[in-house]
Amino acid sequence: MKITIIGTGYVGLVTGTCFAELGNKVTCVDNNKKKIADLKKLIMPIYEPGLEDLVRRNVKEGRLLFTSSIKQAVKESEIIFICVSTPPKDDGEADLTSVENVARSIALNMSSYCLIVDKSTVPVETGEWVKHTIKVNLKDRGKKNLKFDVASSPEFLREGQAIYDFMHPDRIVIGVETKRAEELLSKLYKPFKVPIVVTDIKSAELIKHASNSFLAMKISFINVVSRLCEKVGADITKVARGVGLDKRIGKSFLDAGIGYGGSCFPKDVDAFIKIAEKHGCDLSILTETRRINSDQVRLFIKKIEDSLWIVKDKVIGVLGLSFKPGTDDLRNAASLKIIERLLSEGACIKTFDPQAMPKAGEIIKSSRLKFSKGVYDVAKGCDCLVIVTEWDEFKAMDLERIKKIMKQPLIIDGRNIFDPEYMKKIGIKYLSIGR
Ligand SMILES: NC(=O)c1ccc[n+]([C@@H]2O[C@H](COP(=O)([O-])OP(=O)(O)OC[C@H]3O[C@@H](n4cnc5c(N)ncnc54)[C@H](O)[C@@H]3O)[C@@H](O)[C@H]2O)c1
Repeated sequence: MKITIIGTGYVGLVTGTCFAELGNKVTCVDNNKKKIADLKKLIMPIYEPGLEDLVRRNVKEGRLLFTSSIKQAVKESEIIFICVSTPPKDDGEADLTSVENVARSIALNMSSYCLIVDKSTVPVETGEWVKHTIKVNLKDRGKKNLKFDVASSPEFLREGQAIYDFMHPDRIVIGVETKRAEELLSKLYKPFKVPIVVTDIKSAELIKHASNSFLAMKISFINVVSRLCEKVGADITKVARGVGLDKRIGKSFLDAGIGYGGSCFPKDVDAFIKIAEKHGCDLSILTETRRINSDQVRLFIKKIEDSLWIVKDKVIGVLGLSFKPGTDDLRNAASLKIIERLLSEGACIKTFDPQAMPKAGEIIKSSRLKFSKGVYDVAKGCDCLVIVTEWDEFKAMDLERIKKIMKQPLIIDGRNIFDPEYMKKIGIKYLSIGR
């Protein structure tokens, strides 16, 4: 099938590349000209495991094209996916300016039937607005008889394993209004041997916000329980295992830590609260989720401050910058809040992240922040080592060696990657979450 993807970021680039891999002819469009120029030279704008090889192969075999001309792309495709960013406004509401711009551009350039599928995460009723925008602009062009359909197909991939997730989803959700739209999407998604949940557009839009909010709520839930564990001397990892083995609850998203970050959960929880408010519905269960999450970082910073006594002039090693392993994404990363706070208190920071250092260097600038070559380089001479992201190479570090090279053996772990008993045995003071 001939497909256009508008917005070539984490979701758009992965979606386009994977659809090409499945044999479709895909054109990826973005209004960021540099991104498109780089992609044409096979320079990836993001780090995502396996992505570069897949892009290279599909470009070489002629199934994947990049362009900044929406005009050309829209003319040649029957299905157009909207994958642009939907960032939060200051009050948390989703900013849908890019979605509206794209809908307008599609209407101004389409010349035959199109199915316009929204894959960006959007509040319920966005599909109606997209339809309205296209109708108004087609009429304005004197083309009000041109047929089109709007659909919603939210994306559930996780950064860091986006290709795998896209190719092996738990389910595919399609929100449609017509048989034609349903048939086109069913044909496109045919290679995926998973349940396809066919709904109306509003329900599909709600499924995405409800799913992300539920996962965020699970994380905040286990984090509050972890605070009680610390007070009474229980172990949150054991509690979470005992709870999560109940099939009705499930094990995933029950890891206590420094809370959720990234480009999705914080913004989607905010946007879900806002759209519910707009309709007079109380989603205070989510305002609590959000409050617990920001407290979790604050409490973690306090743990660092309390264990160092005076922060000024202490050398603190920060392991991990990305909001989770497997990505270079720093949007809403706890690392930024932690580093900024410690720098403001006069600490010297040494940090290492396998992927996110170039992006971090553009965001935080300080003469007291040094990017290091690896974990041992960070640990050398440190008063304290703080684990922020659970990259595998941190889990594999030689703790005896770390102990020897640190100024004092103190590790504060926001991701519970080590065994407290072992740390005690080898003489490292070890503080983690809820244990
Ligand atoms: N990142 C994730 O893990 C993830 C997962 C599921 C859903 N989502 C949702 O998917 C959407 C995209 O997220 P992302 O992480 O890929 O964002 P991103 O910022 O990485 O990519 C968005 C892209 O859209 C482009 N863009 C913006 N306006 C445009 C326009 N008018 N015309 C053409 N291109 C335009 C930007 O230049 C950018 O390259 C968001 O709604 C997000 O919530 C993201």
